[in-house]
Amino acid sequence: MIALAFALIAFAAPVFWRHGYPFAALYIALLADVLCDPLKAVLYGFRKKTDQKISLLLSLLSMAAVLIYGTVNMERVVPSRHVYTSGKLKQSYTAVFISDLHIGSSQSEAVVEKAFNEIRELHPDFIMLGGDISDEQSENEEMKWTYAQFGKMGVPVYYIYGNHDRQPRSAYMYGPTYSRDELANMITDNGLIILQDELVKIGDDLYLLGREDTSEYTRKNVTEL
Ligand SMILES: [Fe+2]
Repeated sequence: MIALAFALIAFAAPVFWRHGYPFAALYIALLADVLCDPLKAVLYGFRKKTDQKISLLLSLLSMAAVLIYGTVNMERVVPSRHVYTSGKLKQSYTAVFISDLHIGSSQSEAVVEKAFNEIRELHPDFIMLGGDISDEQSENEEMKWTYAQFGKMGVPVYYIYGNHDRQPRSAYMYGPTYSRDELANMITDNGLIILQDELVKIGDDLYLLGREDTSEYTRKNVTEL
């Protein structure tokens, strides 16, 4: 039944995308039920006869647990810190990398605002945006608000497109909330630098290379770059 449900969701994707949230929740809930099966196996000691009511209760509990965890965890932004060293560097740099805000769709403005304050406290030399800052479900105003905030960071912000930013699947949903040009203008008007298979000099000892998204046919391969 679960395999069938998964197949249905996958094949009828355009229909389900239109009503994204309930079906995404159903998809995750079904996955939680599958993950719950080993637990049931342990509980019943691999007996053939199982208690249907307890089994159902366990399924529902695991589904609820996964959905609640996901909802709460989405609001918890945990930065990870990494130190990279190279003999070629003559000075040190602090860089912030952030991606997949999916503003308005996955992440609220309140959470993003808090993250912006944390970024400012790090006093980065530059910021890298790894794509999917907005997506097919982001409102026009939400997209604009986000880039306006990045524009106020006071340091260079480099941006690469993700597979959702230009809303390629919006035709299956409610149509685009902004055009590709509007998005590009919004990014650059706020002083952000879009890198589409481009190299930019950060300092005498550091270059940054930003690739076009893999969904675009114009993307250069690594050898070309
Ligand atoms: Fe993403």
